[in-house]
Amino acid sequence: MDNVANNKQEATLQFRFMTLADIPDVMEIEYEAFTLPWTEEAFQNELTHNQFAKYMVMELEGKAIGYAGMWTIMDEAHITNIAVRGAYRGRKLGEKLLDELMSTAAYLGMERMTLEVRVSNSIAQRLYQKKGFESAGLRKGYYSDNGEDAMIMWANLPSAGRSGEEEGSVLDS
Ligand SMILES: CC(C)(COP(=O)(O)OP(=O)(O)OC[C@H]1O[C@@H](n2cnc3c(N)ncnc32)[C@H](O)[C@@H]1OP(=O)(O)O)[C@@H](O)C(=O)NCCC(=O)NCCS
Repeated sequence: MDNVANNKQEATLQFRFMTLADIPDVMEIEYEAFTLPWTEEAFQNELTHNQFAKYMVMELEGKAIGYAGMWTIMDEAHITNIAVRGAYRGRKLGEKLLDELMSTAAYLGMERMTLEVRVSNSIAQRLYQKKGFESAGLRKGYYSDNGEDAMIMWANLPSAGRSGEEEGSVLDS
């Protein structure tokens, strides 16, 4: 029965690029996920004015339940944010979202990926470590709400995505 349930979830999980129409849903997830949430205007600017920005939405049965973004500059992708709606966490969906972002970055020719994460955010750090990210030092006092340090993490991206072997990328559809 578990397999049947999992297959159903697989069949209805979709990834696509974010549009301006997604911003209300994204803002709900953003406020649930972060103590320093981005504004609507920040997302609008990213989608309309930042040529380096790529944002993706994860939908389960047609409902936006997560999103992730990155800046792709030269051969490096910088994750700006990644979040899953609270009620859907702990179901490997964040991992699938990060997989999709990483394979899309690789497909776009990126060779490495970086991010900042709060030193207290051990859940996100574990996810990143699982996907091959390693710590490369701290940015002291990076977060303005509590002066917390950010851990800088880097991962090498697989070349498979760049040779078109990845399946299920939003870019295939
Ligand atoms: C970080 C986040 C995206 C993870 O999404 P998720 O769907 O809950 O995570 P998954 O179920 O895919 O778990 C993937 C891995 O993350 C880690 N993880 C997830 N939940 C965890 C928990 N409660 N405790 C410890 N590790 C956990 C584990 O390594 C897990 O792999 P495993 O189950 O094989 O051990 C989600 O918790 C979130 O949106 N958090 C708020 C926003 C945020 O902190 N974003 C990151 C900013 S840098």
